[in-house]
Parts: sequence; structure tokens; C-alpha cells
Amino acid sequence: MATFDIMVLPGDGIGPEVTGASQQVLDAVAARWKHNFRYQTDVVGGGAIDAYGTPLRDETVKSARRANAVLFGAVGGPKWDNEPVRPEAAILGLRKALGLYANIRPVKVFPGMEPASPLKDDRVRGADMVILRELTGGLYYAPPKKRWETKAGRKGVDTLLYTEKEIERILRVGFELARSRRKKLTSVDKANVLQSSRLWREIAIEVSKDYPDVELEHQLVDSCAMVLITRPTSFDVMVMENMFGDIISDEAAVLSASLGMLPSASLAGLPGKDARGRPRKVKGLYEPSHGSAPDIAGQGKANPVGSILSAAFMLQYSFGLAEEAAAINAAVESALNDGHRTADLAPPGAEFSTTQHMTDMVLERL
Ligand code: NAD
Ligand code: IPM
Ligand code: MN
Repeated sequence: MATFDIMVLPGDGIGPEVTGASQQVLDAVAARWKHNFRYQTDVVGGGAIDAYGTPLRDETVKSARRANAVLFGAVGGPKWDNEPVRPEAAILGLRKALGLYANIRPVKVFPGMEPASPLKDDRVRGADMVILRELTGGLYYAPPKKRWETKAGRKGVDTLLYTEKEIERILRVGFELARSRRKKLTSVDKANVLQSSRLWREIAIEVSKDYPDVELEHQLVDSCAMVLITRPTSFDVMVMENMFGDIISDEAAVLSASLGMLPSASLAGLPGKDARGRPRKVKGLYEPSHGSAPDIAGQGKANPVGSILSAAFMLQYSFGLAEEAAAINAAVESALNDGHRTADLAPPGAEFSTTQHMTDMVLERL
């Protein structure tokens, strides 16, 4: 029996509701395939500010490093919005400390789900893309990053800096992912204005020489935001800077009806197969793309699908359990196919599945 150590960090708001759903699914996988998933749970975010005065303790980072993978919920909430160090520092700190530079956010419109999207059916039908977001550099992290006061008033600065190495490694992940899919990579930048984007584009062209089988296209991020909702099926894999990816992935969520549907995998290395065709096992943190959704917390309205699909990613990328991951994906798809809809997917006023009911529907099909 193979044993895997999973660090569970439920966080705030609906975080515990959705990671709870994922743990039930993981338990079912463990029972059916005879694996041993060992969980260690810790407090992060607003809960950790309340309990320990800091959103992310050193002990938590150490345990996360020792674990085979991290299952993360979400952090943040109005209660802590004016804290000097906000709950969000927990996820930003973990990404940096664990070197999780590659954030994979797939956006797929499941057949039959088109009417649940606020966009027109014929636009969203068949959309199936991966947004690859650089996660440990760019505008989020580089110094100077500060606020200060001057005689002329208050000032604030954030810095968008990238090194050649940082750009190259995320692009390689993009090319590898594209190679395993429909072989098209869209590199998204703002090269008409930003120096860091010009460097990004230059390196994209250089790296593309190693991937002659993958078509590389460049798009400026502003028009890309437009094409994303007018011609979403034109995308396969999209790769971009940290903040561009944050914004574009929430926009893309609308295609698949709700942000609650979107999983994510944050990886410390190149996924895919090694030279001998075996799946590489990469260190990773798995969280839905959405936040703590304080507006619906504690009401059974959270869609657990984003977190459950993130758990499937964990099996695939960190544990090398492709068959088990595929079974979870199929169970989710089948539950949706059979019409089960959480509150965010159901038409206004219609009956909806609670978080637990939706989870049960997935468990039933595993
Ligand atoms: P959000 O993603 O929490 O919510 C946006 C909207 O989507 C809300 O209306 C919410 O009800 C809905 N929604 C989100 N997830 C859902 C789900 N699983 N099921 C059904 N509906 C869902 O974004 P926000 O409201 O801007 O942020 C709330 C807090 O979460 C903030 O403090 C923010 O910083 C934090 N946040 C944390 C993470 C993270 O921990 N990784 C990610 C994003 C936002
Ligand atoms: C996300 C979130 C985070 C981000 C916040 C909570 C720091 O919005 O994971 O998309 O901006 O990366
Ligand atoms: Mn975001």
C-alpha cells in the first residue's frame, strides 16, 4: 500500500467547506485503489491571524515542505481587510517558499453546461483551454514594493521584474503542456508598452525553437481579454505573467459558468513525462482558483467542483496516479451531465444541490 502525506490547509470562508469535500473524495479513492492518504491539517490565513497573530507560521511552511503535496482552500475575508499583514500573505508566502512557479488553471466548458454560462451558448461551446500563470515573480513580488509619504502626498510602488531564467522555465512548462494537448501556445504580454514583456516575447521565440511541433502565437493582454469571450475556442494553452494570469483566469471562469468550477495546480517543476515515458512527480499545492467567498460561507452554497478537480490534479501531478485522477474527473463530469447543479450553476430561484449533495453525487459515481 502506497502512502502519501497530504498537508491540508482549509483556510477561511468556504475554504473548509470545499477542502472537506475533496477529502471525502480522496478517502473514496484511497479505499477503492488501496492507497494510504495521511492528512496533516493546519490553520492559515485569517484563522491563523486570530490564533497566532500571523497568517502563515514557519512551522506550517516546514510541514508543507515535508508533505508530498498541499491541499489548500482559500484565505481572506472582510474581518481581516485592515490587518497590517493580510490573510492573503499566507498563500503568497507558501507559493514563494515552496517555489511553486507554474500555476495551471484549466478552463473547460463541459458539454451540456453551456446554458449555465451568462455568455451565449454558441460562443462558449467546446471551449477547452489551460491558462498557465507564472506564480512566483512578476508584479506580485519584486522589490521595491512599498508605500510612503512625501511632501507631495502619499506614494506606492510595485515592481514588475522578470529574469531570463524565470521566463524561460514557465515557457517550457507552456510548451510541454501544449505538446500534450492541441499543440498551440498563446504567449500573452504587453510588449507594446512593457520592457519585461518585450523580454518575455523574445524568450518565447527563442524557446519555441526547441518545440517546432508547437505553434506559438503572441497576443497583447488587453485584446486577449476580448478574444477570450468572443472566440474562446481559439485557445489551447495560454501562458502569462503573474497578475495577467490572475485577471484573465477569473474572466475565463465565466465561460465555464462559475468561478467555483475552476481547479488549479501550482507546481515547483515541469509536469509531463520523463525521457523514459514515466510521469514526473512534481511538488505541488492544489487549490481552486476562487477565493473564500465570504458572501456564501456557511450556507451550503459553495461549489466543491473546483477543489475536487484540484485534488484530481494532485493525484496526477504529485503522486503519479493518472487512473485515479481520471476517475475523479469522470465522476464530476457525470454528476454535472446528470443535471446536478450547485447554487452558482442553477438558474435563479431554481432548486440547487448543496455542497454536500454535490459531493455525494461525485462519490456515488466514483
Ligand atoms: P471570491 O473568489 O471569493 O468570490 C467571487 C464570487 O464568486 C463571489 O460572489 C462568490 O460567492 C463566488 N464564488 C467563489 N467561489 C465559489 C464557489 N466555490 N462556489 C460558488 N460561488 C463561488 O473572490 P472575492 O470575493 O473577490 O474575494 C473574497 C476573499 O477571498 C478576499 O479576501 C480575497 O483576497 C480572497 N481570495 C483568496 C484566494 C486564495 O486564497 N487563493 C483567491 C481569491 C480570492
Ligand atoms: C488567486 C488569488 C490570489 C492571487 C490572492 C488571494 C493573493 O486571487 O489565487 O487567484 O492574487 O494570486
Ligand atoms: Mn485571483
